[in-house]
Amino acid sequence: MRISTRGLHEIPSLEKQKSEDLYIGSLDPLQSDDRLTRVPAFNKERDVMALVMTLQDMLPAVQEVTTFDYPQACAAMRDIGILLGSIKRHGVEPVHVVPSLEDRLNLLGEVTNLPPRDTLIHYVRWNPEGSRLRTYTGTEDEHQLIKSVQVAFHPLYEAILSLHDLYHVSLDSSEFSTLCDQVISQFEGMVHGVVNAKRNVSPQYFAEELRFYFDPIQLNGREYLGPGAVEMPVFLFDHILWSCDVEDETYTAFKKAYVPYNQAMVRDLYAAYEQRPSLVSKAVQELSNGDDFCETRLESAKSLVRLFNLLKSFRAPHKKLADKAYEHAAKDNYREKGSGGYEPGVLHYILQLNLNALQNLKARIQVYERK
Ligand code: HEM
Repeated sequence: MRISTRGLHEIPSLEKQKSEDLYIGSLDPLQSDDRLTRVPAFNKERDVMALVMTLQDMLPAVQEVTTFDYPQACAAMRDIGILLGSIKRHGVEPVHVVPSLEDRLNLLGEVTNLPPRDTLIHYVRWNPEGSRLRTYTGTEDEHQLIKSVQVAFHPLYEAILSLHDLYHVSLDSSEFSTLCDQVISQFEGMVHGVVNAKRNVSPQYFAEELRFYFDPIQLNGREYLGPGAVEMPVFLFDHILWSCDVEDETYTAFKKAYVPYNQAMVRDLYAAYEQRPSLVSKAVQELSNGDDFCETRLESAKSLVRLFNLLKSFRAPHKKLADKAYEHAAKDNYREKGSGGYEPGVLHYILQLNLNALQNLKARIQVYERK
């Protein structure tokens, strides 16, 4: 049965999303282009006072925020976000030193239909290129971290939309393998992202410096997570492919923690697949149905295995990267949790669940081959 998209937010085409991203990147509604170039030096000098004054200078009045349209509000949140992460990096809660933040952030969150703070989308997709790039540290490592996520973001989005289409195709159709190969080539962007991070981001620098800019901040009496790569909707890809019907409290809580940090279309798709069999469960069911043997069905199932292997090609090296970074963190007695509030052990846990689902599919294929 086709997953209903009635009542869901519009799913924008990739082209539309890319041009909107570029447009938001080009905006400077708080006139912060110059001001933000000084942030890396303030962070290096741990000059919290200068960071707070910069934030106060650029913070728009409530009246001004109400005049912002959607793209302006996204760009304004992106720029305020650089100061939020910077101030928090030095152990200070931004809202404690600038109480008027709460009103403005809540308003910006409403206009953008996103949380009342910056997300990975602000930091990566809406961050302008070149000399206007917003960073906390201005270092090559941070540039490369942003680039690593940038090369992966749109391909992941494309892969999710194609996977959503694939969900509705039967294993008996030759279209299944073709579409599956399309998802595979789109998801490769995630692998490229991790390869770039592995080559160009020092795990030690990440562990000792960069990750602290992505710490949660207090607002409205609760915590809001910072713009770490963990917010990428890989959890939605998993959800559709193999995990929407996996009853695992830890992983379900993990996925649900990041849903709100994504745009409406991701949130809608996540909800639409809850209470559904995953694509893999559907495939296993199709392989178990009837006594007949169909070559196309077998080929389709094997292409699903290739897709799983690619997911592993993202997860296994990414886990190694995270383990290496946190080795440094442990040596220096830093706290062990990642920006998403999870310990790196969660990566092993997810990878294991991922492999279990793959194993289940492979076992079913073996039985089918003997038919
Ligand atoms: C030095 C580089 C990196 C390190 C040390 C690192 C570390 C981590 C850690 C510790 C987590 C666990 C959750 C948490 O943060 O609380 C995590 C999750 C995650 N990270 Fe990274 N990461 C790095 C780069 C990247 C890049 C470049 C991408 C994407 C292209 C990425 C995508 C993800 C995703 C999607 C998750 C969620 C878990 C999963 O789906 O397996 N990370 N990362």
